[in-house]
Amino acid sequence: MKNKKITVVGLGYVGLPTALSYCKKGFEVNGFDIDKKLILNLNKGITKIDEKNVKILLKKYIKKKFFPKSCLEPSDIFIITVPSNRIGTRQNLKPLLSTINLIAKILKKNNLIIIETTCEVGTTQKIKKIINKKRPDLFHNKKENYYLSYSPERVFPGNSLFEIENNAKIIGGINHSSNHYSKKIISSINNNLNLTSDRVAETVKLVENSYRNIQLGFVNELSIFSEKNNLDVNEIIKLSNMHPRINLLKPGIGVGGHCIPIDPYFLINRKQNDFKSINTSIKSNSFKTLWVSKKILKIVKEKKLNKILILGLSYKENIGDLRESPAIRILKIISKANKNLKLFIYDPYVKKSDIKFEKYKNIIAIKKSSLINYKKITTFKLVNHKIFEKNKNLNKSLIKF
Ligand SMILES: NC(=O)c1ccc[n+]([C@@H]2O[C@H](COP(=O)([O-])OP(=O)(O)OC[C@H]3O[C@@H](n4cnc5c(N)ncnc54)[C@H](O)[C@@H]3O)[C@@H](O)[C@H]2O)c1
Repeated sequence: MKNKKITVVGLGYVGLPTALSYCKKGFEVNGFDIDKKLILNLNKGITKIDEKNVKILLKKYIKKKFFPKSCLEPSDIFIITVPSNRIGTRQNLKPLLSTINLIAKILKKNNLIIIETTCEVGTTQKIKKIINKKRPDLFHNKKENYYLSYSPERVFPGNSLFEIENNAKIIGGINHSSNHYSKKIISSINNNLNLTSDRVAETVKLVENSYRNIQLGFVNELSIFSEKNNLDVNEIIKLSNMHPRINLLKPGIGVGGHCIPIDPYFLINRKQNDFKSINTSIKSNSFKTLWVSKKILKIVKEKKLNKILILGLSYKENIGDLRESPAIRILKIISKANKNLKLFIYDPYVKKSDIKFEKYKNIIAIKKSSLINYKKITTFKLVNHKIFEKNKNLNKSLIKF
């Protein structure tokens, strides 16, 4: 097996640690990404993924076992980890389909394609049809002469290598042989594998993130109810969770990230939407973000503030990932609503170059060294990074969410 060449397409939060996991097990891995700067950086051993073991393994394997490239070369196995963003409420299939078009050009008999990108139910079948049409030489007597499966990823940013290797993983092949070949390959890095069909695997991935979206919608509503009724939401959750079959999540300022705000749309965007609960939770989570924004604006008005400090920009604690971050949405809402208010912002995990508020002239990013100057400014903590607890320069009258 180790003589098989693996190519990972899309070297982001999922693709890079996946590639490195296979390197660890002795495979030679090619990487392909359309982001040329990313390829340059990876070849220098640089990654934005803030995980110590990812950084160590990248330095260890780069140009020895791991070869990131700006062109796609023939390979025995293609693992696709390109993004699954959305345009409005529809899945943007462009990254996945352009990858498939490239792979179809160089695909050989007995090659394996594993799709890890989250997608709408039926996408793997659609891809199978595209390949069969583009490569009739690989489709004889209604039988594919290549292997294709869908195997979604469940990593938790911040702990990706461990989770790629240890989380239960689902494989949904287009046929038995695709399932078994995929299992043979993936079992090199993860032994917790479960075989099913491509459509079930696609649905399971969407169900997981929709379930979390619904759960978060409920606790976010609960937090608003608690505040209106002068109740402590944390105490309510703690005591409710003492019930052996209840496990409420923590409320927040909304939902963010690459999965939970996006994937539920792939389940409801069908001719017949069977999931009224998902529509409701999407609205509840979005409303919580608006509610927090309005709460800040109210405090600003009551206290007649002309400047505030906002702590935390990322979509969750202890990482610098800004994708779909509710904190960013809150900043934009406040900035637009009160143009005279100066919004100083600080997040230790986010690079200044990643903060893009050109249109919002009253949003000003500050450095850690400047925090001491902001001791007396009313401060709102939007993200509970652990590091904030340790910083003595932060305002004593901090407002948390
Ligand atoms: N990040 C997570 O925690 C997580 C967890 C589970 C599942 N997923 C899923 O995994 C998939 C990848 O997510 P991610 O977080 O790694 O995304 P990412 O944005 O971090 O990485 C995707 C990479 O693909 C590249 N890319 C885009 N279009 C391309 C193309 N046409 N050809 C080649 N490369 C292309 C981008 O430049 C980027 O480097 C998504 O479907 C996501 O929903 C992500």
